[in-house]
Amino acid sequence: MTQKNDFVKIIILFIFFLFPCKIFSADETVWLSSLNFDKAMYAGGKKLGIDKNINGDKIKIGGKKFDKGVCVNAHSIFYIDLKGSASRFRAVVGVDDAVIDKDIKISFRVLDDKKELWNSGILNAGKEGKTIDLDIKGINNLALISRVYDGNNCQYAYNLADWADAKFITAGDLPELVTPPEEESYILTPKPPKNPRINGPAIYGARPNSPFLYKIPVTGVRPLKFSVKNLPEGLRLDREKGIITGSVSQRGKYTVTLEAENSKGKDKKDFVIKIGDKLALTPPMGWNDWYSYTMSVTDKTIRESADQMISSGMADYGYSYINIDDCWMVVPSKDYPLLEDCSKITDCERFSNSAYLKYVRQNSTNSEIAGIPRDEAGYILSNSHFPDMSALTDYIHSKGLKAGIYSTPGPLTCAGYVGSYLHEEKDAKQIAKWGFDFFKYDWCSYRYIAQDQSRKELVKPYDTMNAWLKKQPRDIVFNFCQYGKGNVWEWAEKAGGNCWRTTLDFGALMTPYCLYTNLVTLGFAHNGLEKWAGPGHWNDPDYILIGYKAEDKGRFMLSPSEQYSYMTLWCLLSAPLIYSGNMNKLDEFTLNILCNNEVIQVDQDPLGQQAKRIYQDDDTEIWAKNMADGSIAVGLFNVGEWEQQVTFKWDYLNLDGSYNVRDLWRQKDLGTFSNDFTMSILRHGAGLIRLVP
Ligand code: GLA
Repeated sequence: MTQKNDFVKIIILFIFFLFPCKIFSADETVWLSSLNFDKAMYAGGKKLGIDKNINGDKIKIGGKKFDKGVCVNAHSIFYIDLKGSASRFRAVVGVDDAVIDKDIKISFRVLDDKKELWNSGILNAGKEGKTIDLDIKGINNLALISRVYDGNNCQYAYNLADWADAKFITAGDLPELVTPPEEESYILTPKPPKNPRINGPAIYGARPNSPFLYKIPVTGVRPLKFSVKNLPEGLRLDREKGIITGSVSQRGKYTVTLEAENSKGKDKKDFVIKIGDKLALTPPMGWNDWYSYTMSVTDKTIRESADQMISSGMADYGYSYINIDDCWMVVPSKDYPLLEDCSKITDCERFSNSAYLKYVRQNSTNSEIAGIPRDEAGYILSNSHFPDMSALTDYIHSKGLKAGIYSTPGPLTCAGYVGSYLHEEKDAKQIAKWGFDFFKYDWCSYRYIAQDQSRKELVKPYDTMNAWLKKQPRDIVFNFCQYGKGNVWEWAEKAGGNCWRTTLDFGALMTPYCLYTNLVTLGFAHNGLEKWAGPGHWNDPDYILIGYKAEDKGRFMLSPSEQYSYMTLWCLLSAPLIYSGNMNKLDEFTLNILCNNEVIQVDQDPLGQQAKRIYQDDDTEIWAKNMADGSIAVGLFNVGEWEQQVTFKWDYLNLDGSYNVRDLWRQKDLGTFSNDFTMSILRHGAGLIRLVP
């Protein structure tokens, strides 16, 4: 008996020495703000408020101040490994009183591995905080999520979410912030068949007598032989390259049949050529250099990207514009008169003394780009990185592709190169003479010229340039870029816009999570704008930022599933599909996202209807659009943190009866469904289906 007791004592002592704190330690308070936040995921770059708000002031919710807490720019997630030793989580959550946009809507949620433990509902600015006091015994992983609805660009710390007084009661190892495991990439788009398949839109618009250029986008083994039936007078076809050129003088709607043949078979497709006043009858598709090259863009970059557009196969899916962004013109030398008559300009003084102008002046000594920006007759010049613009557009056109260019109505572009201010007529003439087909007009320094932010002042520079563009003897798609000011969608079509940027720069800040935040906040904020989109006039939420950036700047920071969501949403939004990654580094995964003909068809549908939201909850967005053939495209988005089943109910669209459902990413018929359809969607991923009655 004694021996047995001794044995028990020894065991107890052994356990005591091994795990002293587990047995005898008292509960301890661990402040959320004391954790290491290197692994937290939040918008707005490195901005985080520790025991302060992001501006460095006291955390304040609904007038009440807090000494402790974490203030973060939403959308944000803190994944916390509790090490199984925490028993309670307590906090007061709310929108920080310092937010500028008082309409901001943020929800705060606490989740364990699979389920939601607590949800604040949507909280607004100026409202009292909500108290959390949660039993978290036995839970290992906790996610603290502050989700912003239709919020601001993540570049700015505008969406201030406070986890005030947030603390864990724990009796063991300290909780730790962790990052979720990196998602492996997965390819859904099937390889195109070897026989010819004619992709691209079903309709194309051009003006009478303008030079016509259309490259028939076809996948399948080469060589291909093309033919077109009923081509209107004035047009001719290069049978080897599949490029249609010429010009049509008679207005009208010409239905032609495109045909392509190779050693494996044939394909044909009806195609409408509409000769009238409207361009961009389907959203423009192509590439723009800005997010990959910024100021280092050159003639070589542009030519190489055009080459890659062909060799990567992107052109076989309808990508056709090769667009030069900022930085092709000259940075005006110091003595060049930018404003001519200062007395005519509201903010002349402010412009002349601006930090922006000082910054530009630094560049004005770089002889490669700086100097006299116009010739003696006032026509704009390109800088030495672009020695011959006409030769460049000829090169692009010879491949059946189109060329785009950029300017600003202000005296200087955003990067400080010369703008079109007071030279609109000559700039329109010059870009037409050089042979450009697409023109982006970026507000930039025009903010110093506009008298105020009234609609009249916002419209003026676009109206002026539109009038000059329309007078040119070639078709130039007009892309407004003024970041959505004054609800641009309400007036841009009338001012001649074929597409208009709806937001600030989508990828201005490329930190982990910032791009995904923008997808959620800016992308889904397009609900309601559908009534302004249609053939010839599109909402433009900015470029497609997936794959690699140029100059070894790495990848755009989005998980594979997030990239599927990006393309899915852009196609549902009937957005221009303008890729802005590195064309010299297109990997199989990126091409699988960019080149799925059935997904692209949703974007290029001739009806031109933009999708709208039909269902939303904390973890889900469901969007739908009608297609010209009577089918319906439906996007199912999982904006939550774990894989989930997303159900689309016929009720959301008042539908009846059964529909054949096709999975567009996998290009697979899934069968006939009535009442509803459910799909399992990965974290931050999306499914895209087409319902055929
Ligand atoms: C602005 C625009 C961008 C890009 C840059 C160029 O930021 O929004 O798309 O054109 O200017 O300077």
